[in-house]
Amino acid sequence: MFENFTVPKELIPSDPRFGVGPSLIAMEHFKTLAETGSKLMGTSHRKSAVKNLVKEVQNGFRQYFNLPEDYQVVLGNGGATFLWDMMALGMVEKNSAHFVCGEFSDKWFRAHKKVPWIKAQEYKVDFGKGINPESKSDADMICTTLNETSTGVQISKLCEVNDKTILAVDATSGAGQIACDVSKTDMFYFSPQKVFAGEGGLFFAFMSPKAIERTEKIAADKSRYIPVVMEWKLAIDNSKENQTYNTPGITGLYLVNEQLKAMNKLGFAKVEKEAKRKADMIYSWAEKKDYLSPFIEQNEFRSQAVATINLDEKFSADDLIKKLRDLKVVYDIDSYRKLGKNQFRISLFHNVTYENLEKLTKIISLAIES
Ligand SMILES: Cc1ncc(COP(=O)(O)O)c(C=O)c1O
Repeated sequence: MFENFTVPKELIPSDPRFGVGPSLIAMEHFKTLAETGSKLMGTSHRKSAVKNLVKEVQNGFRQYFNLPEDYQVVLGNGGATFLWDMMALGMVEKNSAHFVCGEFSDKWFRAHKKVPWIKAQEYKVDFGKGINPESKSDADMICTTLNETSTGVQISKLCEVNDKTILAVDATSGAGQIACDVSKTDMFYFSPQKVFAGEGGLFFAFMSPKAIERTEKIAADKSRYIPVVMEWKLAIDNSKENQTYNTPGITGLYLVNEQLKAMNKLGFAKVEKEAKRKADMIYSWAEKKDYLSPFIEQNEFRSQAVATINLDEKFSADDLIKKLRDLKVVYDIDSYRKLGKNQFRISLFHNVTYENLEKLTKIISLAIES
């Protein structure tokens, strides 16, 4: 459909990466990583060079999120997917309530549902709609996703929970640029390859004293089998020593630290304001064009981190996405594969600039209109 389309020179973005994960990593961070030479890469994570790096990342998160003093910044290998099982086995007592509005919140639910002694309940809306978490009297863990990367839904409100309930938030693609009062949560966790432009494979979790206490209570129940690699005590104790239980990828830690330093210079308020400016621009463009429409109709749930934009069935989003990739001007704006929509899914993450997003909108408009 778009075989003969070409992109005028003045519209070519300075970076073609618009994907929602892994996301655009700043090129200068690769250069400075290379300059660390033999100081970091290939050295032990039990020695000071790597431990200092981990400490800097932990303190960087404390500063950026203004974390309460008594919260622990816990990290480890395996990413958010690994944490779903680790929480199911070592943090849920009997009953978790899941607020589901896309593939990732659904996967989290399914991970808990597999555990024979957990009664996992799903509160689900059609994909494209939003749902805020609610307190449920029979649940000892409330599970919500700050930003549903598959559909482009962000939650607009947290719920209050009592002192026996853990409020757990998967913040993977929203942490850093979607407002969330971490002090109201017990387990705020994410993989860092989105807004924080790191690499896949790591997890970070900000844990309240209540969440830590829960893991201790469950660990004391010796009848429950928990694989060693998923023992919370090991993750927490190692994190206190600025280490991970098993060997981490140092590149990922380095990249997160550089990104965090840059974002801490701005502070959360400025980063969030820029995210909102980009989101406003993208959604108002989609509303203006009669061949486009925002997938998320409810304004309060429209993500300021991942924008999903439907395209009129007369045109093929896949064909245009392929053409733009072949031209090497725009990568990875495909809709989430399982949604099967004629749709663009566009990263609004911190490193994707307003100017490049504006160029992207002009490229898509030009391709459709010409
Ligand atoms: C909201 C959300 N949760 C969880 C995950 C899984 O993260 P990982 O692949 O690092 O385990 C993703 C990945 O894109 C995500 O977007």
